[in-house]
Order: sequence, then structure tokens, then C-alpha cells
Amino acid sequence: MAEILVCDDETNLRELLCLALEANGHRTLAAASGAEALRLLEQAPWELLITDLRLPDVSGLEVLRRAKELAPERPALLMTAFASAATAVTAMKEGAFDYLEKPFDMEELHLAVARALEQGALKRENVRLRQAAGERDAGEEIVGVSLGMRRVLELARRAARTDASVLITGESGTGKELVARFIHGCSGRAKGPFVAVNCAAVPEGLIESELFGHAKGAFTGAVAHRPGLFVEADHGTLFLDEIGETPLALQAKLLRVVQERLVRPVGGVGERSVDVRLLAATNRDLMEATAAGRFREDLLYRINVVNLRLPPLRERREDIPLLAARFVEKHARKYGLTIHGFSSEVMDCLLRHHYPGNVRELENLVEGAVALTVDGRVELEALPEGVRCGVRAVDRAATPFRLPEGGLDLEAHLAELEASAMDQALELCQGSKTRAAELLGMSFRTFRYRLGKLMGR
Ligand SMILES: Nc1ncnc2c1ncn2[C@@H]1O[C@H](COP(=O)(O)OP(=O)(O)OP(=O)(O)O)[C@@H](O)[C@H]1O
Ligand SMILES: [Mg+2]
Repeated sequence: MAEILVCDDETNLRELLCLALEANGHRTLAAASGAEALRLLEQAPWELLITDLRLPDVSGLEVLRRAKELAPERPALLMTAFASAATAVTAMKEGAFDYLEKPFDMEELHLAVARALEQGALKRENVRLRQAAGERDAGEEIVGVSLGMRRVLELARRAARTDASVLITGESGTGKELVARFIHGCSGRAKGPFVAVNCAAVPEGLIESELFGHAKGAFTGAVAHRPGLFVEADHGTLFLDEIGETPLALQAKLLRVVQERLVRPVGGVGERSVDVRLLAATNRDLMEATAAGRFREDLLYRINVVNLRLPPLRERREDIPLLAARFVEKHARKYGLTIHGFSSEVMDCLLRHHYPGNVRELENLVEGAVALTVDGRVELEALPEGVRCGVRAVDRAATPFRLPEGGLDLEAHLAELEASAMDQALELCQGSKTRAAELLGMSFRTFRYRLGKLMGR
């Protein structure tokens, strides 16, 4: 239960909001103008700010900015009747946690408030942990406002408190390496080394000596003793990227090291113990690889103590505005350009695109678009043709249902159909769950429940 500052000049709405929030056990402070909100921000105790964007005196963005100056870790929600994607980006950039598009129902309000408070609590916890460890929060780098990403980050934080091996799975470009660095940064090993090796990029003949080191003269070209990456990662974290690509012979050796934490350099005598936390990532289905005999089951169990699955970007479109804003800033700085933002058509296209290449693809799109700007605004021509609106994702083209000759698993088929319908409805309604629910003839409550179930799969 929290102290919530509500600022709206419309008396009816303000009172309604306060009543609804109080009915949910919160305490409220009401401000009828921007000026009053600014005064209360400084003088009253508050944990969450909910402000209208259009106020007669001071703009809602101004109120938001002041709130962020005073208390950067406290969350804020913006309400607006004119929700354009551009406003949403500005609001997010100014630090709003979420925005509510008027008219909204009380369910939406309570959901947004609950999420914002949860995020605020996480941030405070972070600040506390960071102060305790005297460390910079590695999570600042990672954008993740969607439910799916927040869940991943929360699990990552929990796993970081232990030395458990974590297997990070997800499609290419979803941020697996970023999450690996995040876990290391949040862990007690943060001051130790983070060593990453891409198992697919090292030639098969060299990977063993790369990982375990070699003695001088162990093979042609081994002109000096080399300690290997396990030893380099001593007292830190070793990140085995693309672990699905390691040859079977090496998997057996890895298993031994993982079990015993003892490494023997190629051609060397004697073993050395190492204190290493293992993280691994793959975009392959390792269960399937195991069934097919391409991956050792015992190794899988060892590295998969905790599994973190990164959702593809198309399943967490709420992250797109903030990610896009982050990338605009990054690449505008790199190219020495001043960018004021996207036109709303561009943001619409970005929100609708299917992103087979996930976050990496979004970053590339934004970088390309930034390079093509005129007068500081990213316009539609700056996007590749395939991304511009109207282009539907190819892999979802509707095909009339035909029962395959061999039959099918109807439950699974229906679940897939449901996921696809909800996904497409959300896309059509630009993320508004209320409207997406209407489109599918469901109540908001049912829609939210099913969405939650799907996300938790
Ligand atoms: N949530 C995020 N916030 C900010 N940047 C992100 C996020 N996720 C990914 N990125 C950026 O997208 C790019 C791809 O991320 P990363 O390399 O971690 O993906 P990956 O899952 O390891 O991909 P691959 O399977 O192709 O190796 C990086 O530049 C990364 O910084
Ligand atoms: Mg990677």
C-alpha cells in the first residue's frame, strides 16, 4: 500500500481516481494543477506519481521531470487523452514508467499502479544493494519494462546471489549476452573477471586449449604456456556462448571440469583447481539436441541448474519505445547528430514489425534511420521498405485450416492459435489490452489472465 500523488485538473476524474486507489488500500494526495503538484512533490510524502499530461498551467512532463529530479527511484505514470507513440517515447525518456491512455478502466489503472510500485520497490532494492556493494548497477544497461523482461531480470537477480549455473536461452539478438553480464555484475563475483567465449567461433581443434590452456610445446604453434580461459576466469564468471555448438568430445571434457572444477592444460601434467561460476547461452533447443544424441544429457543438467528464457521482441512490444529511444540517443551521439524523435508513423511501424532478429534488428533499424534523418526527425522514408506499415509478418499469413493426414495435437494447435490471435490483436491495437480484448470478444479480465498464462509458458 502506498502514498500516491494524483494530479489532474478534471475534478471528476481526479476524485474518481483517488476513490479507486483508496478502495485498493492506498493513500492519496490530490493536486488540481501542475503548480500544486510541484509543491506537493517537495513537501508531502509520496511513493508514486500519477499525472495528466495536459494541465492548464505547468505541463505534466514538467511535473514528471521534477519528480525524477527529486526522487529518481520513485515511479511515475502519465495519463493522456492524446496518446501518440511520440508522446509515449518522450514520457518514457523522461522517466515515466508507463502511460495510461484515456479513457482507461480501473482494472488497467490498478494493473499499471501495481507494476509501477513493484518496479519502484525493485529500484529501491537495487539502490540499497548497489550502495551496499559500492557497485554500479549492471541492470541500468538493460531496457526491460515488459512483464516478460522484468520477470527474467528478477530471476537473474535472484540467481546472481548464488553460484548456480545458468543457461540463458532465446532467439538470436534477444540479449542473452547482456543478461549474462548482468548476472555477473549483480553477483558477489562482480569485482572478478567476466570471461566470454563463443564456442561456435573457435575452431574445433583449438577450443580445448583455449578453454583449458596448454603447456609449452604441447602442439605445433604452442610456443609458450597458456593458462586458458577457465584459469583466466578464476574468482569470476565464465560465459560459454553458443554452447550448443560444442563438439561431443569436448562436452565430455567440459563435464569433468564442471563437476570437479579442476583443469588440466593440453599436454601438461597436473591439474589446477579453479573457482569459476558458469553461465551458458544458446539459441538452440538443447533438449532436442540431447534427444538426437548431439548434446550430452549429463552436461545439460549441470549447466541448466537455472534456465532463463529471453522472450523474443515480438512478444514484448512494450519494450520497443524505450529501446528505440535508447538506440536513437546512442547512435545520434555516435554520428554527432541532434535527433528530436520519430514521427508517429515511424513509431507505429517499429511497434508493428515482426523482428526475426530481435533487439539487434531493432538497433540496426534505428541506426540506419538515424543516419538518414533530415532536420532531426526520423521520417518514414528512413525505414527499409519491408518494415514500413502495411506489411504483415509473412509467417503469420492466414492459412485455412486443413487437418493433416497424420492427425494433430489439437490442444497444442489451439494454444498456438490463441497465442497468435492475441499477439495479432495486440499488434493491431498498438498494445492496448482493452481494445485487443474487445477485438477478440473477451472481457479485459479474461484477456489479461490468458495473456499472463501465455507469457508464463
Ligand atoms: N534489453 C535490452 N536493452 C538494451 N539493449 C539490448 C537489450 N537486449 C539486447 N540489447 C542489445 O542488442 C544487441 C544484441 O544483444 P546480445 O548480443 O546480448 O544478444 P544475444 O541474444 O546474445 O544474440 P546472439 O544469439 O545473436 O548471440 C546488443 O547490442 C545488446 O546490447
Ligand atoms: Mg550472443
